[in-house]
Amino acid sequence: MLNWSLGIQQREKESLQMNSNPKIAVVGSVNVDLVVETERYPQLGETILGSRFSELPGGKGANQAVAASRLGADVTFIGCIGDDSYGEFLTKNFSNESVNTQSLLKVEGEHSGIAHITVAQNDNLIIVIPGANYALTPEKIRQHEETIKHSDIVLVQLEVPIETVAETVSIANKYNIPVVLNPAPATKLPLHILQGVDYLTPNETELTLLTDIEIDSEESIKSAFDILFKGGVKNIVLTRGAKGAVFAENHNKQLIFKESYSITPVDTTGAGDAFNASLAFSLANGCLLDTAVEFSNKVAALSTTKFGAQSGLPTAEEVNYSKMIKGEV
Ligand code: RIB
Repeated sequence: MLNWSLGIQQREKESLQMNSNPKIAVVGSVNVDLVVETERYPQLGETILGSRFSELPGGKGANQAVAASRLGADVTFIGCIGDDSYGEFLTKNFSNESVNTQSLLKVEGEHSGIAHITVAQNDNLIIVIPGANYALTPEKIRQHEETIKHSDIVLVQLEVPIETVAETVSIANKYNIPVVLNPAPATKLPLHILQGVDYLTPNETELTLLTDIEIDSEESIKSAFDILFKGGVKNIVLTRGAKGAVFAENHNKQLIFKESYSITPVDTTGAGDAFNASLAFSLANGCLLDTAVEFSNKVAALSTTKFGAQSGLPTAEEVNYSKMIKGEV
């Protein structure tokens, strides 16, 4: 049972207790993260020595699936692995994390998704080679329509083909299942996708790419949100790392600023995924968007306390018992 101390309304608390294991369908990517740690980033053309190399489970979709499962959701992952040993490693990881793999598809003759990650100076650089993730076609999504139909919420990102994202949104809309679209990595989105999105969760870079507005002030956020609202998006949550989050709902379009939790990060890889998963989890549990964003800020902060995209993802109990203060580090 969850017991968040941050002014949750009684109605929301009750609904959390009634249904704290919502069904979440995550449609997206699964990668092996090949992570190099260094003290600083090399210049273009420069070679430097790093301090450590690790192979870890990752991928925006998989991270979000694992994050939601750790919080207590009943998660089904719809995505593709290659027919290599990494595919076996990633499948085993899902099983260890209690993520349902009935819709995890093995693609013959293709390698599993790979992410080359450099971690340095409290940040990271990532290059993804999609491999099997790009074999997740709209047709494969249609084959798993029942999984989407029987979910409380659908969570999707942009590391799979855009037409697959469109099909996911369209199927979810057909059954009135709310959609959280995390537009990462930054990609332009066609209007027909935006119109079907209930919660769009860009970071500042992604918001700039989606709207052609440089995000450097409250006014610029308002203008960018207005463009997306005109495009048909229902709710927008802008994630800003240590600066917290800003959200607005279509009915009044008012910007609400939420502070982040103050934490000294070990590794910020996957913090956005932690945020998105907990947003979907809390919304599916009946929380208001305000409470969901507050909770997700906390989960995202906690996720950065361990190395790797998934190792720091907290359980609901860990979120509940963690004592955290607000504000930038
Ligand atoms: O969001 C972090 C993730 O982005 C990493 O796990 C990596 O696989 C890339 O997909």
